Amino acid sequence: MATKLPLNHASLYSTLLLILLTLSESQTILKKFSIKEATLHDLQLAFKQKQLTYRQLVEFYLQEISRLNPNLNAVIEVNPDALYQADKADYERMAKGAPASLSVLHGITVLLKDKIGTKDMLNTTAGSFALLGSVVPRDSRVVAKLRNASAIILGKASLNEWASFRSFNAPAGWRAIGGQGKNPYVLSATPCGSSSGSAISVAANLVAVSLGTETDGSILCPASFNSVVGIKPAVGLTSRGGVIPVTPRQDTIGPICRAVSDAVYALDAIVGFDYKDQATKEASKYIPRGGYKQFLKTYGLIGKRLGIVRNPLFTTGSGSLQIQAFESHFQTLRNKGAVFINNLEIAHIDIILNFTLSGEAIPSVAEFKLALNSDLKDLVVSPVRALADVIAFNRTFSDLEMIEEFPEDIFLAAEATNGIGDNEKAALLNLSRLSRDGFEKLLWEKKLDALVTPGFDVASVLAIGGFPGINVPAGYDKKGVPFGITFSGLKGSEPKLIEIAYGFEQATKVRKPPTFQPF
Ligand SMILES: *[C@@H]1O[C@H](CO)[C@@H](O)[C@H](O)[C@H]1NC(C)=O
Ligand SMILES: *[C@@H]1O[C@H](CO)[C@@H](O)[C@H](O)[C@H]1NC(C)=O
Ligand SMILES: *[C@@H]1O[C@H](CO)[C@@H](O)[C@H](O)[C@H]1NC(C)=O
Ligand SMILES: *[C@@H]1O[C@H](CO)[C@@H](O)[C@H](O)[C@H]1NC(C)=O
Ligand SMILES: *[C@@H]1O[C@H](CO)[C@@H](O)[C@H](O)[C@H]1NC(C)=O
Repeated sequence: MATKLPLNHASLYSTLLLILLTLSESQTILKKFSIKEATLHDLQLAFKQKQLTYRQLVEFYLQEISRLNPNLNAVIEVNPDALYQADKADYERMAKGAPASLSVLHGITVLLKDKIGTKDMLNTTAGSFALLGSVVPRDSRVVAKLRNASAIILGKASLNEWASFRSFNAPAGWRAIGGQGKNPYVLSATPCGSSSGSAISVAANLVAVSLGTETDGSILCPASFNSVVGIKPAVGLTSRGGVIPVTPRQDTIGPICRAVSDAVYALDAIVGFDYKDQATKEASKYIPRGGYKQFLKTYGLIGKRLGIVRNPLFTTGSGSLQIQAFESHFQTLRNKGAVFINNLEIAHIDIILNFTLSGEAIPSVAEFKLALNSDLKDLVVSPVRALADVIAFNRTFSDLEMIEEFPEDIFLAAEATNGIGDNEKAALLNLSRLSRDGFEKLLWEKKLDALVTPGFDVASVLAIGGFPGINVPAGYDKKGVPFGITFSGLKGSEPKLIEIAYGFEQATKVRKPPTFQPF
């Protein structure tokens, strides 16, 4: 929880800081350092060399948010406490010096998808008016970990309302509170979702680190469309405690950043066991001693076996420009020592990629109702206590929500379910079988370290098995809309995926900052 000292303490810190700052030479050199596109390493170096204070970093982002957010709709709320927290951290650093074992996240501002609960002045709403004014019992586990690493919570990022689980017919990036999120590269293009605001904000330099959540594509897709790095960790690697759920079987929390290294540092800060989330018990055995940063290796691609499934993943929706870009990327990866196993097939891929045909929809809606009802019950204060209340809320306050255009089809389907019955169990068995005979079998049989796929196309394949993936910027289409490349693998493969993603990023350096083109 945020430490909130009375205001006079806050201003005391500011005054002391001002005196200390005036005594140091920091202001004179500040001009040389650019926060835009800076990595966490760059920022930490600037802090260390006194070219930048934590307050100046927060002030820069707050200015950029007030300048750009009216057009981008990427941030729902900024933290009224952020400057105070920065002052406090600055004061501590000035007074006591940098702590000996300084976390890379120390003093770094982080933006959170608005499903990730914070026990502070910020609301946690999933983008819905129904949750405005609700009070969470405690910080979500990932936020507690960020605070423990001395990160500063900058605010809440926009998202597809209820992470798209209100209706599939609502456009990506849309939410009742605040409207439509925009792609900063081409404003008329989709930002994708549901972690739209997290990806947009990082892309547009409104923050360096954000967290998103993924149930089926919600980190990988916006990362791809906003030319940023998104890590979707295996389910259970990061705790879902205190995060508004879709389905605990598939939900996972992960970082979205501009650089693979930044995302890996953020991942290191948030992974780990949480007694409130059973899945973290099973998954914590995969977390390597010393964390994930050791896999940011210069020669990480040597000997890596990468599989390519062309049908249908390199044919659907990929223009010729993208295909060319990927062929050139494959060559680059080969030059760096990777080995390709080409033209592979995932059994029943057409079924797996169709939410309805695979049966993924059947248990998901039932699990959503159970998980959401339990989450809402746990709130200290809330206008809604169950999914039924959320649906009723819509009926009462229809002027607040865009009802006619976007029916609540998923809400209604979920409300009509009654726990995990025979039909759900049968569908779950089917999903396990599809995953086992498809992705898992392929990766085992061909001894692959990772599958390489364009954009976020592989998302459903990973979703049904709880598998991890990392999206890295891979190019821009004719109009300048970004597209990414995803490296995915089996549970526990994050170290290898990081080696591959980092190796690819360092060899290609595709990302460029957005230019806000209207069309
Ligand atoms: C949280 O929501 C309330 C309305 O319920 C609003 O008054 C307040 O400003 C919001 N908090 C922030 C930090 O925006
Ligand atoms: C908090 O951070 C310290 C290192 O700064 C670490 O040793 C400790 O395990 C962390 N606690 C939690 C709950 O993550
Ligand atoms: C998924 O399958 C259903 C049922 O066969 C079909 O109606 C629908 O068009 C398919 N969706 C996609 C995106 O192919
Ligand atoms: C939401 O409210 C509108 C207007 O009151 C109503 O027409 C619509 O049926 C409601 N949707 C659901 C799913 O209840
Ligand atoms: C499970 O898969 C079989 C075909 O493999 C299909 O006939 C059946 O309808 C599926 N069950 C569910 C609940 O999706």
